[in-house]
Amino acid sequence: MSVDRRTFLKGAAVAAGVAVTGSTGILLSRSADARRGRRWVPPDWTARNRLFIPPVVDLADLTEPYQLEAAAATLNFGPSSGLAWVYNGVFPGPTLLARKGDSAQLKLLNKLAEDTIIHWHGMVVDHPNDGHPKQIVGTGGVYDYSFPIVQRAALNWYHPHPDMLTGEQAAMGLAGGFILRDDEEDALGLPASRPPATGFPAPASGYEVPLVIRDSDFDNAGNLKHSESGAISMVNGTIDPYLPVDRALYRFRILGGFHTARVARIALSHGLTFTLIGNDGGLLPEPVDVSEILVSSGERVDVLVDFRRVERGTEVLLRDVDAGRDVLGFQVLWSFGDDSQPPEVLPSITPLSSPVRTRTFTFDGMSRINGLVYDISRIDFQVPFGDTELWSFTTGGTGPHPVHVHGASFQVVSRTGGRGQVYPWERGWKDTVLLLDNETVDVLIRFDAYRGEYLIHCHRMQHEDRGMMSNFEVV
Ligand code: C2O
Ligand code: CU
Ligand code: CU
Repeated sequence: MSVDRRTFLKGAAVAAGVAVTGSTGILLSRSADARRGRRWVPPDWTARNRLFIPPVVDLADLTEPYQLEAAAATLNFGPSSGLAWVYNGVFPGPTLLARKGDSAQLKLLNKLAEDTIIHWHGMVVDHPNDGHPKQIVGTGGVYDYSFPIVQRAALNWYHPHPDMLTGEQAAMGLAGGFILRDDEEDALGLPASRPPATGFPAPASGYEVPLVIRDSDFDNAGNLKHSESGAISMVNGTIDPYLPVDRALYRFRILGGFHTARVARIALSHGLTFTLIGNDGGLLPEPVDVSEILVSSGERVDVLVDFRRVERGTEVLLRDVDAGRDVLGFQVLWSFGDDSQPPEVLPSITPLSSPVRTRTFTFDGMSRINGLVYDISRIDFQVPFGDTELWSFTTGGTGPHPVHVHGASFQVVSRTGGRGQVYPWERGWKDTVLLLDNETVDVLIRFDAYRGEYLIHCHRMQHEDRGMMSNFEVV
């Protein structure tokens, strides 16, 4: 049998196996070992549910606007099924893909029984495309979006943004990832673009995997319900999930998809570390190895994990240390051979500097910024286009407050009080930064893409819905 023919058969086995249960992958590994005269008995990995990976929609492949239909659907959460509210029948919604310099044409179709609108979190777009609560559409309504991709490669995301209903709709499942690519990132040869080693087929997930971590609550019938308790962790809409992986370098695009107050302190078992390469606004100025990362609602991290550091047969756990939960099991199933290394340098970032004015934002109680509850028709302040400003976020308590700004990314300068430091995952460009009790976080920000109306708000959706949100205008 020719090498090509063997490779093809292995590819077919993997493709067929993992599409159903992943168990054929184990058989493949056994037979590969058998050819080498060894027997490898896979551990008993039956306790978890296969991680769902949302379908990827590359907007560049489409000639028509891509429609996202928000509707109720019955879904399989792993151990059980129930009702959720989702985009295009999947939870999380399809992972959208676009490149810097291209444009995105999208359409929301609202099949929910209430108003909604989609906001593209992290995307630098003008006001009509931002999914501001003023742009809500009712049941049966549509909203058309069309915008150029003007920013660097990053993981952004999309979710509802109707005034006072965002928490409910996100809790019910409406959210998806939106990955931006660019030439700068492509040149690094990160795992996504790495071909599988020595003729082996790549694992079905690929070597770049989005992981949307969130909390969920269920009613007695097993349907998702809106609650703040967040009793159950899910990754990509799967309860207690596993992902079969190769002994290789992987890239995980992690999103804090929480509607709750959860601040996940993520870490890996078996002494594995994360090579942190990016966050909300794309790649960091340099890679850094960390053993844990804090992720709150709206925040993203881009990490490399090297499964070559453990033996085949190991189940590496992704843990939320503070919650005492194992949120995902990476089952090291294959050993295809991989000699790739994390990049040693990343593209540099020009620091913002010399702010021309300072604004202070106090996050008060559960519902106010600078003493004011959100009013959809009130503009609270104006920001001159192109000026670099220092924004100072502060709270006396009632945190966590993940502070999020629409329309531009910012650079974190300092944190005083509370934890008193800026963490490695807060370097580079951010659009959401975690403010804990008695902290002041200073950031530099400049709106230099569009004039128009934007939002600043707490991304803990209970706070946002109660009014911890403010309209401002770039003029
Ligand atoms: Cu992800 Cu205004 O929100
Ligand atoms: Cu946003
Ligand atoms: Cu808050």
